[in-house]
This record gives sequence, structure tokens and C-alpha cells, in this order.
Amino acid sequence: MNRLLNSADFRKAARRRLPRSLFEYIDRGAEDERALSDLRRSLDDINLMPRMLTGHAERDLSTTVLGQQAKLPIMVAPTALAGLVAHNGEIRMAKAASAAGIPICISTQSITTIEEIRAGAPEAMLWFQLYVWKDRSLTRRLLERVAAAGVTTLVLTVDTPVVPNREYNMRNGFSIPMKMTPRATADVLLHPRWLFGVLLRYMMTTGMPVYGHYPQEFRSAITRPSVSDAVKPESLLNWEDLRELRQWWKGQLVVKGIFSVDDARKCREIGADGIVVSSHGGRNIDSAPATARVLPVIADAVGDHIEVMADSGVQRGSDILKYLSLGAKSVMLGRLPLWGLACGGETGAGAMFSMLRNEMDTTLALLGARTPDDVELLPPEG
Ligand SMILES: Cc1cc2nc3c(=O)[nH]c(=O)nc-3n(C[C@H](O)[C@H](O)[C@H](O)COP(=O)(O)O)c2cc1C
Repeated sequence: MNRLLNSADFRKAARRRLPRSLFEYIDRGAEDERALSDLRRSLDDINLMPRMLTGHAERDLSTTVLGQQAKLPIMVAPTALAGLVAHNGEIRMAKAASAAGIPICISTQSITTIEEIRAGAPEAMLWFQLYVWKDRSLTRRLLERVAAAGVTTLVLTVDTPVVPNREYNMRNGFSIPMKMTPRATADVLLHPRWLFGVLLRYMMTTGMPVYGHYPQEFRSAITRPSVSDAVKPESLLNWEDLRELRQWWKGQLVVKGIFSVDDARKCREIGADGIVVSSHGGRNIDSAPATARVLPVIADAVGDHIEVMADSGVQRGSDILKYLSLGAKSVMLGRLPLWGLACGGETGAGAMFSMLRNEMDTTLALLGARTPDDVELLPPEG
């Protein structure tokens, strides 16, 4: 692990360990993957402005995230099937996040349930991400469990009303439910470390990994067909639904997947506590604007009233500082923690957080900044 010096090293090592279908599911974008390259371009186009002789002895990366103290201005984004990356991956990730002093948001589509994660990582700052199911009463029952597990912050994802077009998943036979085609089976056999360390460990203990939160009668092992219609994501979600959820959910509410000032204002009017400006890591709409291009106007418009978070495309500590300088209060990370988890479980995820902390710290020092708030952007030309 000591040889993994940056996120690209982690990604390369994760690629060797994970079955190709799982690696590509995590790594790739949608359709022609233009959003992915545009995310990179949008961050690369930003320059941070150094100030000399500022003489700060120590930098401070601590912050608050929706009122919770965090040691770093980052959190673990919700990622479906993180439990396939390592055995009990969601618990290991929650422990690593807790040790790093940052929140972690668990996906509706995790392998391990929120109750098991809470039991495995009692100190973790657990958030929960909701995909509203077609059957609203089942959704409500799920949220009752989430609240009972002591989760205070709910993240409603609104940018995925239908399954996005990811052709590589079809080619790889990686669909939900997964199908063990001859190609998929060969892929797994070619990655014995994952086969023995993850898949067989599940099979010898809790059985074939399934979506942990799906009601017992709807659970489908990854080799078995079809998740029932009742637990399909609701494709007709609207503002009235958000209003209802706001009345019903007593904890903090964050809306994830916002691109426009209008939508951000509506979230604020309805009483959301925060929004995540996000292009879903370039995984959904291939022609959507990159986060960095829309974040500044959204943060200007609503940032004084609700908490604005951002995500997508982070590869370096400096990328995080760029989103913070564009108006985000904190930044969610999707793929990077998964690469850490793939490389070394809890320790690997922790190593990724430490590496990002060091990168942010070094960048701040070189910029002559004590905190991310001191960082200045080079104004765009013209
Ligand atoms: C493998 C994977 C699974 C994801 N699953 C979910 C999910 O279940 N719910 C959700 O709201 N976002 C999901 N996302 C999107 C992330 O929450 C986040 O928006 C995105 O990964 C940020 O981009 P980054 O990976 O470049 O950091 C997923 C992302 C990845 C990479």
C-alpha cells in the first residue's frame, strides 16, 4: 500500500484486484463518456492563486458538515454495491470514515443493511441516501428503519429517474440483477483474490450478496432474476413528493443531483437543509454540465441559506479545494474511497483519506493559505 502514492495508483491496483465487470461498473461513465472527460477538463481549467510570505505555521482542514464537526471537508458519497468491493465493504468504509472524522452516506442499494453498518461502526457519522421505490409504503418502512438506526441526515437522489445508458455493463453481463454468464464467470475466476476474499466469504457466511435493504420477499440474489416492480426506482418523482418527504422526515434533508439555480431555490423553499451539485460522477447524463461550471452560480444564489455540497470527478486534493473555492461547503467522493477499499479494506480507504488530506495540506501550504477559505481562484480571462 505504501507504493500507492496517488489516486491513479490506487485505481490501477484496484483494477488488478476487481473483476473487470465490477471495476468498469465503478470506473466508467455513461454512453460516450463525454461527461467524464468534461469533468476532468472543467477542473483542470481552474487555477488556484498562490500568495507568498503569508507565514502560516499550520493549516486547518476541519469544518462542519450540516452542523456536524468533520476533520476534513469531504465525505463518502453513496455508492451502490460498495459491499462487493470488499467483504463487508460498507462496514469497513464506515469505520475508515469514522477514523478519518468524516461522514459517510450509505446507498439504498448497499449490500449490508443500515442496522448492520450501525452495529459494525457505532461511532460513524452515518447518512442515508434514498432512491424512492415505486411502492411508497415500502419506502416509508425503509425510512423508519433508517431513522431507528440513528441516521439523522437523509440524502434524496433526484438525478436518476431511470437506469442510465451504460453499455459496458450490458457487454460485461453486469446488470441488476447480475447474471453469471460464461463471460462473467470467467471474469470472476480470473480474479481469485476477489473470488476468495469477497464472493466466497459472503457465500460461506451470509449467502450470495443481495441488496440488503430490499424487503425480504423482494430480495434477489445476484444470480437470480428480476427485482420486483415495487422496488424499482420511482421515475415520476416530483416537487410535491419532495414537499411530502420534507414534512414526513424529521431529520436533515439533502437533495442530491442539482444543476440549476431554479431547482436549488425550489429545494430551499421546500425546506431542504442542503443540496449536492453533482453530475453523478459523469455516470448518468453524458451531456450534462460539469459540476464546476454550474456550482458558482448555485452557491451564490442559495449558499447563504442552505448548505451546498458538490461532487464528481475528484482525483486530487487540489480538486477538492477547487470545489470549495467555487462555493461548496464540503465535497462528496464516490470512486476514490472505493479504490482505497479495493486495495486494502478499511486500511486502504483510510490510506486514501490520508493521502487526500496530505495533498490538500501541501497545496494550501504552497498557496500560502491556512484554510480552504483563504484559497483564491485566478479569475477567468476576459
Ligand atoms: C459505483 C458507484 C455507485 C454509485 N451509486 C450511487 C447510489 O446508489 N446513489 C447515489 O445517489 N449516487 C450513487 N453514485 C454517485 C455518487 O454518489 C457520486 O455522486 C459520484 O460518484 C461522484 O463522482 P466521483 O465518483 O467522481 O467522486 C455512485 C457512484 C459510483 C461510482
